[in-house]
Amino acid sequence: MSANRKRVRGIEIAYEERGQGTPVVLLHGFPFNRSLWREQVDALSARHHVVVPDLRGHGETTVTESATMEEMADDVAGLMDALDIERAVVGGLSMGGYVTFAFARKYPQRVRALILADTRPQADTEEARQNREMMAQRALEEGMEAIAEIQLPKLFAPNNFERETEKVARVREMMVTTNREGTAAALRGMASRLDASDLLPQIKVPSLIIVGREDRLTTLADAEKMHEAIQDSHLVVIDEAGHVSNIERAIQFNRALVEFLDTLD
Ligand code: MLT
Repeated sequence: MSANRKRVRGIEIAYEERGQGTPVVLLHGFPFNRSLWREQVDALSARHHVVVPDLRGHGETTVTESATMEEMADDVAGLMDALDIERAVVGGLSMGGYVTFAFARKYPQRVRALILADTRPQADTEEARQNREMMAQRALEEGMEAIAEIQLPKLFAPNNFERETEKVARVREMMVTTNREGTAAALRGMASRLDASDLLPQIKVPSLIIVGREDRLTTLADAEKMHEAIQDSHLVVIDEAGHVSNIERAIQFNRALVEFLDTLD
């Protein structure tokens, strides 16, 4: 994917933009980049205007010392301004979902619909915050290979991790090429994120919740709770998939997206 770039809020945001129609902005998880959405850009751009940015500190976007979910949400709003997009379907996977919650809280009028994939509304526990800080230190001191070593096996359904070596290699490549300072900033940003549980009953736009049945990081139970709390929501469970369900089972994931987007037209 070749990058476009816009200068927004003092940083340079790299993004890909393809297709025409309803704008759909998709936000990647941690520590990935916009290429996470390769299959989704291919599938959706026939009928939609798809925009996939690299969030700050990731991919080719500027690395900053601070990377809170709110700052990332402001970057997305700034990018939408720069692209003349007033309102979009906004969605994210995992950390991208945390940023989506921050965006929906701050810019509700700019959200046509939400896509919440393999994510959760609750904030970190104290223990999780301490783990994030340890990971941030490790990233800074040892580099991204060490982070990939710890994280990668948890991202896939066990069978997929064993057998789908190309997909595992692709996710690994995204991880090891992420900047270590950007990684530390995102870890600290996630550790300090707000609990979005109170936001869920206030969400009035159509919302698609997707989760891999074998997701061990943001579980089916998390997704079911979100589904109960968001009034106009639809839950799709992807079989034989873990946390990176959009890569593990792209066809099923894309079908859920296309069917959901069709209901908005
Ligand atoms: C992600 O995939 O974005 C991360 O696993 C989210 C997290 O660590 O909470």
